[in-house]
Amino acid sequence: MNRRDVLRLGTLGAIPALASGGALAQMMGGGGGMMGRTISASLAWPTGQPLRPFDVLANRSADADTFAATLVAAPFRASLVPGASTELWGYGGAVPGPMIELVEGQRVAIEFDNRLSIDSTVHWHGLPVPPDQDGGPMDPVAPGTARRYEFTIPAGSAGTYWYHPHAHQTTTLQVAHGLAGPIIVHGANDPLAALDDVTLMVSTLTLDAAGQVATPSLAMGGMAMSTGGEVLVNGRKQPVHVAAPGATQRWRLLNATADRYLRLSLDGHRFAVVATDGGLLPRPLANLAEWLLAPGQRVEIVVTLATTRAARYVLRDLGYGGGMGAGSGVALMTVQATNEAPKAPVALPALLRPLEDLGPPAFRREVVLSGGMMGSFLIDGRSFDMDRVDLETTVGRVELWDLVNTTMMDHPIHVHGTQFQVVGRSSAVPVAPFDGTAWFDVVNVPAGGTVTIKTRQMAPGKRMVHCHILPHEDAGMMAVLEVRA
Ligand code: C2O
Ligand code: CU
Ligand code: CU
Repeated sequence: MNRRDVLRLGTLGAIPALASGGALAQMMGGGGGMMGRTISASLAWPTGQPLRPFDVLANRSADADTFAATLVAAPFRASLVPGASTELWGYGGAVPGPMIELVEGQRVAIEFDNRLSIDSTVHWHGLPVPPDQDGGPMDPVAPGTARRYEFTIPAGSAGTYWYHPHAHQTTTLQVAHGLAGPIIVHGANDPLAALDDVTLMVSTLTLDAAGQVATPSLAMGGMAMSTGGEVLVNGRKQPVHVAAPGATQRWRLLNATADRYLRLSLDGHRFAVVATDGGLLPRPLANLAEWLLAPGQRVEIVVTLATTRAARYVLRDLGYGGGMGAGSGVALMTVQATNEAPKAPVALPALLRPLEDLGPPAFRREVVLSGGMMGSFLIDGRSFDMDRVDLETTVGRVELWDLVNTTMMDHPIHVHGTQFQVVGRSSAVPVAPFDGTAWFDVVNVPAGGTVTIKTRQMAPGKRMVHCHILPHEDAGMMAVLEVRA
């Protein structure tokens, strides 16, 4: 098998892509088609394969100021578990999709080719792209058609982002089949550029007894914090990441799961957080034992591995129930130290970058999350309607939003088009750093708690505000924010 096949398909090799109308129709059939099928725990998922490096989406522009590429979304088949050929939906024939590597200041033109049998979009999660390029549910791309997304990457936005579909009421279905991929924006002056740079995209995949993708039902998404499934890193279950003893590495962790909180911890190690959703912190947050990463969020950590040769450590999700019990932990990845002589540790710079002060707020509002019973997920008492405007602001106005969660479960709230600062919270549940010194585009709002964010929009148009537990989003926990010039 050549390297490309390994990258694309994980374990057991390629089977040519098949047309998928039948399976899709079956999944979409009946009452919105989101009911889960029987899930079998007995499928033998292989573990211990090498950590899969990402394919990089090729830039066909000769000019360094421009990134031009085509991104194809299509069904394909892969052998993930013995005895089954699983239909996945992927970008570029891979799950997760290829890494899109961009540079601050670049003009980006990506042709999206929808070869799925339903409407889709590409949303550039976390990037401040213009509203009409944001891939929201108002701008569906019909099956068998293509559209071009064009935007410019502003200075100061270096960081770790991701792309995924955002089609009306089928985001869960599409992400559950594998449609998502990482975006890395490089900055001109990256103070950590000398470190090994490893991207770890965490996703879940749930297969039924026949080895086919089972999509989480709204009922399951509503009643439990996690709809289960296998937790994968770069598309593989508990892969092995090989590194030299003593190595200092930058790990970019993405929570691309539909609904699973990740309470990250590495056995026997402490780490520094150096970046959140919107890029570098002003200074490293050192000596942490764990970090809670909500669905949709990213975190960059710097870890210096112990100097013992040939040792193994496990990167874990310790488990977090999101207001609904303790949650259960899971091993994510094994770190395997080589037998080489230990590397000398690399000291982190004390200062990473200055953080912009948004200045005093000119407006304050409450945004209330309610419902939480089966099928009822509301923002300010209403279920999503793309033809209605729920929140209004003006370009450049700095606002405080009190995100008030009246439900019995946590909701990770995401605002499109901008990065915000978390400036207050009512509860002891960790949403750190909550002192305004980091950029986020998703913040966890704990059950019964309030989180205050300071936010601002810089482009006129309509933006989505929603819960990033995808079954909640599809069920209506999403609002339209209209930004006026
Ligand atoms: Cu990552 Cu509106 O989504
Ligand atoms: Cu988004
Ligand atoms: Cu939610």
